[in-house]
Amino acid sequence: MLKNQLPLVTFILGTRPEAIKMAPVIKKFMESKLLRTKIVITGQHKEMVLQVMELFELKEDVNLKIMKNNQTLTYITCSTLEGLSDEFNSSLPELVLVQGDTTTAFSAALAAFYKGISVGHIEAGLRTDDLFNPFPEEANRRMITQIASLHFAPTEKSLQNLRNSNINGQAFKTGNTVIDALEIMVKRESTELFKDINWEDHKIIFITVHRRENWGSNLIDIAYGIKSILDTNPETKALLPLHRNKLVREPLLNILGSHKRAVLIEPLDYGELIYALKRCYFVMTDSGGIQEEAPSLGKPVLVLRETTERPEAITAGTSKLIGTNSKSILKEANLLLKNSRKYKKMSRSINPFGDGKASERILEHCLNFLNK
Ligand code: UD1
Repeated sequence: MLKNQLPLVTFILGTRPEAIKMAPVIKKFMESKLLRTKIVITGQHKEMVLQVMELFELKEDVNLKIMKNNQTLTYITCSTLEGLSDEFNSSLPELVLVQGDTTTAFSAALAAFYKGISVGHIEAGLRTDDLFNPFPEEANRRMITQIASLHFAPTEKSLQNLRNSNINGQAFKTGNTVIDALEIMVKRESTELFKDINWEDHKIIFITVHRRENWGSNLIDIAYGIKSILDTNPETKALLPLHRNKLVREPLLNILGSHKRAVLIEPLDYGELIYALKRCYFVMTDSGGIQEEAPSLGKPVLVLRETTERPEAITAGTSKLIGTNSKSILKEANLLLKNSRKYKKMSRSINPFGDGKASERILEHCLNFLNK
């Protein structure tokens, strides 16, 4: 068959976590001689996505460049729908792949659905069972489930959630592609940025926050919780890469910016993130991806949220949901800092989210689907 007669698979991504989790899949698909691939980035994020693409040596074919300051969900959705409608008019794929639960992933699935293109959903079936938490991600992932034809569930639990969702098409358990990405990156971690941090001198607590439901008073509570940990535990330092969103940065900078043992830095690239995760004492985060990566590296995670769609690490006892109240943040951090038995128990290295072979399985299922 001539190359341009091979089926076209278009990957659509817009934010940093989508880039990280799609990169190993895209690389696998590009090696296949049985299909053509195209990468479209929406530009929901700008710098944060291009950084990841570069690290994985990938280059987009199309960039819709939608990002603007203070973008609303309505704006992201409408501009993605319109941009992708034009894209599909000029280059019609047989299959569109989206990842996760961002507004890019939802709008891209909807744009494909409107054109009658089959949708494959990577990291399908995650649920908190609270429609409003995380907002809007829980709604995004449920809506994608309803219009996709191929559903790639990372774990048994997510596969079960799909079976309870009255899906159309086929669902498979593949593992989470974040572990594939982690295995590629662990070999290439960078160190430059951290020359000034002596990881032996202090217990470094690695912290990230960005979620919409934490904007405002929750974020202020979290910042005071971190401050009280530092004030009462002189052996600790907080390493806190700031998200680019102003609404997230400003409260953290105001409350922690002048603290001697709070190290507030720009967003890390993925290699730097893995370096920090491997060497920190424990992690506090509201990120989904970090909840999956840290257990693989044997680091306890305190989850700064009320709900999680990743209960596997909680069940295994290496993560704990602690909410955003400053008193409970201090209490839970103190347990890890002062109780070595508890710390050891939460530091076991486990891999409930995948085995590094998810991309291979996804390719195989897509080839079967396209060859029918
Ligand atoms: C988005 C996703 C969230 C995902 C997160 C990862 C939605 C609704 N949310 O949230 O699920 O976990 O990405 O980070 O899809 N900005 C820049 N440069 C960048 C990226 C962002 O300046 O490279 C700034 C912009 O001012 C932008 C703001 O950050 O307006 C917020 O970005 P947005 O995509 O709206 O939300 P996130 O909080 O990043």
